[in-house]
Amino acid sequence: MKFPKNNQNDTAILAGKSILLGITGGIAAYKAAELCRLFVKAGATVRVVMTTAAKEFISPLTLQTLSKHQVYDDLFAATKRYTVEHVALTKAADLFVVAPATANTIGKIAAGIADNLLTTTILAARCPVLLAPAMNTYMYKHPAQQENLRKLKAWGYHLVEPVAGELACGETGAGKMAAVEEIFAAACRLLQENTAWQGLKVLITAGPTREAIDPIRFLSNHSSGKMGYALAEVALTWGAAVTLVSGPTHIEPPPGVEFVQVTTAQEMYKAVLQHFDSSHVVIKTAAVADYRPAVTHKEKLKKGETLTLELVPNPDILAELGKRKKQQILIGFAAETNNIERNAIAKLKQKNLDFIVANDVTQEGAGFNTDTNQVQIFYADGSRKRLGLMTKKELAAYLLQEIELLRKQRNFIVN
Ligand code: PMT
Repeated sequence: MKFPKNNQNDTAILAGKSILLGITGGIAAYKAAELCRLFVKAGATVRVVMTTAAKEFISPLTLQTLSKHQVYDDLFAATKRYTVEHVALTKAADLFVVAPATANTIGKIAAGIADNLLTTTILAARCPVLLAPAMNTYMYKHPAQQENLRKLKAWGYHLVEPVAGELACGETGAGKMAAVEEIFAAACRLLQENTAWQGLKVLITAGPTREAIDPIRFLSNHSSGKMGYALAEVALTWGAAVTLVSGPTHIEPPPGVEFVQVTTAQEMYKAVLQHFDSSHVVIKTAAVADYRPAVTHKEKLKKGETLTLELVPNPDILAELGKRKKQQILIGFAAETNNIERNAIAKLKQKNLDFIVANDVTQEGAGFNTDTNQVQIFYADGSRKRLGLMTKKELAAYLLQEIELLRKQRNFIVN
């Protein structure tokens, strides 16, 4: 991820913030002292967590003096203070920065290993985590390391990519930790993102609906909920208050959302309308069944020669929202197999949306039950964008940025 340079105002975001600074055992550990100083100077409270190896490179006393706080390094010190250290540390943190992050620590995080205070704390972290990898160029290029970094990015960890340069081992190549100023800028940017949506109420629908035929059978579709849950997770980390109205899925709702579980389209209609007036942004990712059986049989239907089901239309939730829309930004999705553009634009207009996200579900890696998606966005002003294949989390962040732009254009006021 590329982070733009900060100006003076941007760094003001650090005032009063709580930063956890993790330091692992690499030669770049000495640069963490400068990073710590910059955070403190900008008004942040910095708590430092060091691995045993990090202490071989830089003294905890240096970090203690710069941060003006005790340095944490002992997983088992918890019992002495009657707190669960790794949980207590993360609870208070707005941002966790690990600089340098060695190949070893990155590998452990990717494997879910928690064998020291730093890795344990990372696993327990609820705030964004920013990693600044630093290692020998061959270690960096090793497929295992590249796979780990790819995995961490997909999980939502943030990276300040290492740069090419002369390494401590004498080699020249990629793997050198990014400049301290670059890491500092990335931290400010993340904190800004993390507060950008504070005070905003976001209503997201996800998953399929189920329309019962009898006590055993139902009509439904292939939606897994992944796209909607990714949106909820990212909006939450940006500071929004998120209500997630979801049909039946197999995924856990992100901790912190107001979760409303529904089964049928009619239940979703009711839940969505209840939350609509107080919402600033509404994103309808759910794959709602357009029809339901006219009759839900109380007993299991018996097998016969043929069976004719009479279906009646479900309410079009999004179309109803489009009619009632006041200040809300209203986003729809369209899962299409053909005539993508024509169908998506028709829905955009018919449902009075600000934009619609169309996925061609015949494409590999797009649409239902995948971790990735590839979409085209059609906007109310007639413009459009075609995006490449990306993870649903990356797409979620992209779409929220688009909404952010719309809010700015409208000089949107949070009330
Ligand atoms: O859940 P995943 O496995 O991650 O898959 C994601 C997805 C493919 C479900 C998602 O990306 C997507 O495309 N969702 C919309 C699915 C769809 O079929 O939409 P639609 O073309 O039927 O409806 C258009 C819009 O109107 C949607 O925003 C839908 O939520 C809404 N709608 C539709 C019918 C209805 N009765 N009420 C509605 O509100």
